[in-house]
Amino acid sequence: MRPLVPTPLIAMISIVVSITFTNIVQADDAAAKAIHIANEVCAGCHGVDGNSLVPTFPKLAGQQKVYLLRELTDYKTGKRVSETMAPFMESLTLEDLPHLAAYYAKQKPAPGVVSNPSLLAVGKTLFLQGNSNTDVPSCDSCHEEDGSGSGKFPRVAGQHSEYALEQFRLYATGKRTNGARVMKAVAERMSEEETRAVAEYMASMP
Ligand code: HEC
Ligand code: HEC
Repeated sequence: MRPLVPTPLIAMISIVVSITFTNIVQADDAAAKAIHIANEVCAGCHGVDGNSLVPTFPKLAGQQKVYLLRELTDYKTGKRVSETMAPFMESLTLEDLPHLAAYYAKQKPAPGVVSNPSLLAVGKTLFLQGNSNTDVPSCDSCHEEDGSGSGKFPRVAGQHSEYALEQFRLYATGKRTNGARVMKAVAERMSEEETRAVAEYMASMP
């Protein structure tokens, strides 16, 4: 059978591809290095396109660039502590971080998984209105109504609920202190049910 694409054409395409790739590498070595690191090192946990499949590993795809850079810098300088992340941060330079942040911010976020739909109504109310009885502020004031975040306020839409729950535990117990103090207050004041409900609601947002 004749091949679908003639061999000389394949050769031509691969030459064009390799020339284009060489140009990109020359034009932006640092960005190319970051993509290489993302594929070789980070993809194992965070997924090739930043959509991790393991619910305890956060999704990075479509996350706010400013937020990503701050978190990566905080891991690198020890302000945010994670035993899992630490060994992978060691080999990175501070110059790699903005390129990694830019790479993941550009990826398309995949929809999240809801495991308990019966909690969504409670979660939605808390997210949009907070709880005035316990002084929990509404989340949309910082994370936006659609959960997309902005700048230093992280995207929470579609995030794994397991990861979000772990972060609430770290905030409440004072183990995550690198960012806004407000998240400690939020995590301390939410009831167990509200915490699970809001995590489900965030996962449900596209
Ligand atoms: C062995 C699995 C693993 C590998 C490999 C890994 N990570 Fe992580 N990553 C995690 C876990 C677990 C967390 C959550 C840690 C915590 O609670 O602070 C995390 C958190 C993060 C966060 C914070 C996300 C957020 O929403 O706050 C960023 C950014 C990140 N990783 C980027 C990277 C980059 C870039 C690499 C590659 C250099 C990488 N990770 C490699 C497991 C991993
Ligand atoms: C005044 C602003 C503000 C309000 C209100 C707020 N947050 Fe946050 N939130 C932040 C900031 C800033 C961060 C980034 C990390 C940090 O500063 O600790 C964050 C981090 C988070 C994270 C961790 C994201 C990640 O990828 O690691 C979750 C989950 C979260 N917020 C959920 C909520 C929920 C749910 C509510 C409402 C009940 C809420 N936030 C209310 C500002 C806010």
